[in-house]
Amino acid sequence: MWKTPAPASPAGRPPGGGPLLAVENLHVEFVTRRGVVRAVNGVDCALNAGETLAVLGESGSGKTVTAQAIMGILDTPPARVTRGTIRLRGTDLLGLREEDRSRIRGSRIAMIFQDALSALNPVFTVGAQIGEMFRVHRGLSRRDAERRAVELMDRVRIPDARRRVHDYPHRFSGGMRQRVMIAMAIALDPEVLIADEPTTALDVTVQAQIMELLSELRRESGMGLILITHDLGVVADAADRVAVMYGGRIVENAPVHDIYRAPAHPYTKGLLESIPRAGGKGRALRAVEGSSPDPMAMPSGCVFHPRCSYRQDDCAAGEPPLHPIGPFRGSACHYWREVLHGSHG
Ligand SMILES: Nc1ncnc2c1ncn2[C@@H]1O[C@H](COP(=O)(O)OP(=O)(O)OP(=O)(O)O)[C@@H](O)[C@H]1O
Ligand SMILES: [Mg+2]
Repeated sequence: MWKTPAPASPAGRPPGGGPLLAVENLHVEFVTRRGVVRAVNGVDCALNAGETLAVLGESGSGKTVTAQAIMGILDTPPARVTRGTIRLRGTDLLGLREEDRSRIRGSRIAMIFQDALSALNPVFTVGAQIGEMFRVHRGLSRRDAERRAVELMDRVRIPDARRRVHDYPHRFSGGMRQRVMIAMAIALDPEVLIADEPTTALDVTVQAQIMELLSELRRESGMGLILITHDLGVVADAADRVAVMYGGRIVENAPVHDIYRAPAHPYTKGLLESIPRAGGKGRALRAVEGSSPDPMAMPSGCVFHPRCSYRQDDCAAGEPPLHPIGPFRGSACHYWREVLHGSHG
């Protein structure tokens, strides 16, 4: 579990030592025929080894694009990173040559994709697909790669791995296919694992098993886990810290207990108020009133101000920085005190 040491930056960075992964002022846009889509607009966040950071936010808020930028798999063009840094143990990944970047991808930073269940190739056995990680990155023979694939299938608790390594993906249930995807992602012992909605396509019981598996693997290996999810129940159970995204920015960043006890951004508060009292286990996010900002025409000032019940005249003018409001905690709202203490307006 995450412990609360000395005060840190609002982006959640501990003092000294430096985080495993630090994203600062990241901007990503897509140049399309219809205009420029501003998908990520100044993301700041940090991930420590062994920690789970949940990234929460409604559809289109920039969660996947941020993850793709960290993985280095944005298609450029149409995407371009216009500003910012992404540091892995201090090294700025954006400054690396593609050759060096591709060595990190899959081995030091790995990702489980949002559409993971369709990502397996139907014409190869799962063993061949898991084993390919070892053949490509580690130069193992087919036979050794298969042996490692069986070990990994055991590790992600696929029963009867020695036999099933020869099966094709269609013989696996959705949950088992997701385990295969997890096996491929952790094959090379990454320091950072990004899981983009890893359980959305699965039924509730299987979701819980997959989350348990990810938590176990994180504990065993000490990797940092970025968990992108719509599910507030998953966040409450699995995360140490939460970053709430809105309009391509992180609007609130806090230890998970703090955010559930007392949110400090009106958007977070809206999200939490949309869950029934039972604690929100297994509940997906429901919409906060109003519609998402148009990434081709972002509102001036605070991106959330058109939907915000705490709005004051100055909110349309200056974009609020992530104000430091406590240890490892930040809120990009000028009126965070009012939100935090529950006084309105
Ligand atoms: N290839 C692309 N070309 C143009 N715009 C894109 C592209 N990929 C993403 N976007 C836009 O970037 C913004 C952020 O998208 P992103 O996929 O990161 O959202 P998300 O938070 O992951 O949403 P969801 O919860 O639905 O997965 C959206 O407005 C999306 O339409
Ligand atoms: Mg997404």
